[in-house]
Amino acid sequence: MDDLSTIRSEALGAVQQAADLAALDAARVAALGKKGSVSGLMKTLGGSALSARLVNEKIDVSLPARPEGQGSLHPIGQVMDELAAIFGEMGFTWADGPDIEDDWHNFTALNIPPDHPARQMQDTFYLPPRADGTPMVLRTHTSPVQARTMLDKNVQRMLADGGSLRIIVPGRTFRIDNDATHTPMFHQVEGLVIDRTTHMGHLKGCVHDFCRAFFEVDDLPLRFRPSYFPFTEPSAEADIGCSWKDGELRIGAGDSWLEILGSGMVHPNVIANCGLDPAIYQGFAFGMGIDRIAMLKYGIPDLRSFFDSDLRWLRHYGFSTLEWPSLTQGLGR
Ligand code: DAH
Repeated sequence: MDDLSTIRSEALGAVQQAADLAALDAARVAALGKKGSVSGLMKTLGGSALSARLVNEKIDVSLPARPEGQGSLHPIGQVMDELAAIFGEMGFTWADGPDIEDDWHNFTALNIPPDHPARQMQDTFYLPPRADGTPMVLRTHTSPVQARTMLDKNVQRMLADGGSLRIIVPGRTFRIDNDATHTPMFHQVEGLVIDRTTHMGHLKGCVHDFCRAFFEVDDLPLRFRPSYFPFTEPSAEADIGCSWKDGELRIGAGDSWLEILGSGMVHPNVIANCGLDPAIYQGFAFGMGIDRIAMLKYGIPDLRSFFDSDLRWLRHYGFSTLEWPSLTQGLGR
């Protein structure tokens, strides 16, 4: 306060004694300028508040530190990373598409015309149509991303240059279904290879290599069974060898088989619908349930538990966020 009254009288004195404008301005600068006496005093305000705080606040340095929570990865995310590691090694890249899909990409492009009975195979969630009348659905499978990718002009140019298209599409899918083995939202991974020479033998080799790597069983038997899908011809379902002992499943050579995916050579109609010439291009596709292979690999008994958001469950089945799955360092824990 003393400082303040001295500054005040000095400043007022300087104003009174100012004989001309220049002297008056000098008096203003001396008090209120950047380096002036009032400004100097303002700067000390912060300092006095800090010393008051330091006097009043006490820190107890003997208190234990708060523990840091360590999160974990959901098994679905983990398995998606494992898929990326395995298929990445085979030259596949990760492709995406929308969860809300139009009827054309979800069905028609995939050789499932409007009145086709195959539409009843999938219990579809229909959405209100777009303003232009386009019928919309929640995608019932990841297969529409096949069409989205083949229609991509950059992909078509790459194929015309003699390249090979290899994608996996891990993602969410939706069907009206709810019991111990079905949930209305679930996950699939689609695989697609398109070029001029890829054949059924490549499909089988690719699926077999994947299954051996994913389940970490070198001599895992694989068999193809003839099947039907509108978007492939010929179509096959793939089974891996397994056995059951005291109600426990063991994956590997055994006396039983376990269905693992649907697949086939991409139907020429699909290739044509996607703007490519089926006389030039061919390839294979497959579709697999991610939740299902996660349950099989990690011994998770109930599909619904994946989506309960129970932290105790996640602590038990979750994965370290610091370990990235790789073929050389190991996939799972
Ligand atoms: N989209 C099929 C489904 O969800 C799965 C499938 C089967 C995908 C065969 C494919 C395939 O790409 O070739 O039921």
